[in-house]
Amino acid sequence: MRKLVLAISMLALAGSATFAGPIQDRQALMKERGKLAGQLVKVVKGEEDFDASAVLTTLKALQANAEKFDAEKLFPAGSDKGDTKAAPKIWEDMAGFKATEDKFLASTKAAVASPPGDVDTLKAQLNTIGGDCGACHQSYRINKS
Ligand code: HEC
Repeated sequence: MRKLVLAISMLALAGSATFAGPIQDRQALMKERGKLAGQLVKVVKGEEDFDASAVLTTLKALQANAEKFDAEKLFPAGSDKGDTKAAPKIWEDMAGFKATEDKFLASTKAAVASPPGDVDTLKAQLNTIGGDCGACHQSYRINKS
């Protein structure tokens, strides 16, 4: 009986270990970011027609994504270990890391507050936003591309 209880509790532990932890959560958030930014890139490249309302919807989704970012929850101490490309610098310079995310959030808010009416305006906004992605990856991600 004891053995059975132990076996069951070990199964439960194994199950929770495969649950989405902070590493998976932040990678999922980033994947969504990549997908949304990718949609805007297509428009800027002319691979998709410029549709002001569709573009605004995507920008709003990007802002919502940025607002979901919670450094304490997604990057808790110890989550530098595992299947992650998060750089140790995040935990050495948490304030700088958060400031970099705040800059990104501010850029998405600015874009939503003045929705682009044409491709050129979107292009300028996307340059700023993309620059924010790159700035953070440069400093705080092991794979810097
Ligand atoms: C404040 C910092 C920060 C900003 C801003 C940021 N990222 Fe990231 N991003 C990271 C970190 C850190 C990782 C590595 C996460 C990990 O592996 O645990 C990452 C990982 C990713 C990944 C890989 C996810 C995976 O599947 O493992 C993609 C794609 C990505 N970011 C896209 C973007 C895009 C696009 C933007 C801008 C629209 C952006 N990121 C802005 C910090 C940032």
